[in-house]
Amino acid sequence: MPMDLKGKKIVLGLSGGVACYKAAELCRALTKEGASVQVVMTDAATHFITAVTMQALSGNAVYTDQWDARVANNMAHIDLTRGADAVLIAPCSADFMRKLAHGVCDDLLSTLCLARPHLVPLLVAPAMNVEMWQNPATRRNTAQLRADGVRILGPAAGDQACVETGMGRMLEPLDLLDELIASFQTKVLAGKRVLITAGPTFEAIDPVRGITNLSSGKMGYAIARAAREAGAEVLLVSGPTTLPTPHGVRRIDVQSAQQMHDAVMAGIAGQHIFVGVAAVADWRVVNASDQKMKKQDGAMPSLQFEQNADILAAVAATTSLSGWPFCVGFAAESENLLEYGAVKREKKGIPLLVGNIGHHTFGQDDNTVVLFDESGHTVLPRADKLTLARQLVSEIAKRIEQRSLLK
Ligand code: C5P
Repeated sequence: MPMDLKGKKIVLGLSGGVACYKAAELCRALTKEGASVQVVMTDAATHFITAVTMQALSGNAVYTDQWDARVANNMAHIDLTRGADAVLIAPCSADFMRKLAHGVCDDLLSTLCLARPHLVPLLVAPAMNVEMWQNPATRRNTAQLRADGVRILGPAAGDQACVETGMGRMLEPLDLLDELIASFQTKVLAGKRVLITAGPTFEAIDPVRGITNLSSGKMGYAIARAAREAGAEVLLVSGPTTLPTPHGVRRIDVQSAQQMHDAVMAGIAGQHIFVGVAAVADWRVVNASDQKMKKQDGAMPSLQFEQNADILAAVAATTSLSGWPFCVGFAAESENLLEYGAVKREKKGIPLLVGNIGHHTFGQDDNTVVLFDESGHTVLPRADKLTLARQLVSEIAKRIEQRSLLK
């Protein structure tokens, strides 16, 4: 996997809230991803977690006081954000949101936010009681922050430390990490809706047995993540996998090819892009048993098959005159990829086909792919699947852009 924050300097600000305990894990996740993290805490934050913990996890001295004389020119509120790539406030309390919305600067962290260079993005992860989050004063402050270009990450709904339930929980550390990583990706699919199929299908033989394949879903999930990072609204229709849903992606789980077909056709209206990554079973068992088949001495089960509908071809057939959805297919060929890939693209009636070199990609973390379009083919050299997914997303965006310029 890429070290997405390698070389990035992140100022991690903590304001007062019980979610400070999650900031410790966030800090660790940021450093593991290659970031250099400078922690700044409000006085209230130090009541929830110590500066010692945050120093140990970030590997850098923590600042809590605007009168701290450790910075040579005594201007920590200026120096700490110079050269920074982002300022992330997690947790951001209701009071700290108020300060940010009104330009209050009465402690080191709020002064540092106001004094940061305007090109350094400010991201905040609200964390507060549900009533505080819903209060009109907080709503006003949130709207003001958005209007000022501050990115509001979350909050999430769920159980709260105050034993109430609702919106106001801080996003989980790994979700915040993904949001921060996404904030550095260019928004080449902003405003676009993308439907992606991923994983294997499972064709039942009886209630406990079935036919499936070795697809892990990694490539499809990586593309879902990359499309979301690029600003798209993403719907993932997934066969059985053990992968976590990428943050911000809506996922529908299916088992059989028929269910995948039905879920895709139900969701395809209004989609700008369709990417069929799933390894869909070519055949289903027509004489599947409702009860578990009994083993009988010497007698072999006799299975009859019929062909599943080709989901990609069915979606491609719905392409409107204006070219939506832009359809992308995948092909895993064990030989003659260059020849078969070009033929398959034409046969499926799609503008872009991604060929895997060999079928050994199943379950692997990296891959080499070849892109086939009407003007020929391009090789994307071996890389991890997320890197390839990001390249594919920008190739798709480039083709959509070129196409709309031609119209
Ligand atoms: O024809 P083949 O199975 O090699 O084509 C692979 C491509 O078609 C993949 O993009 C796959 O997701 C899609 N496909 C599909 N429905 C099927 C079979 C394949 O959408 N029934």
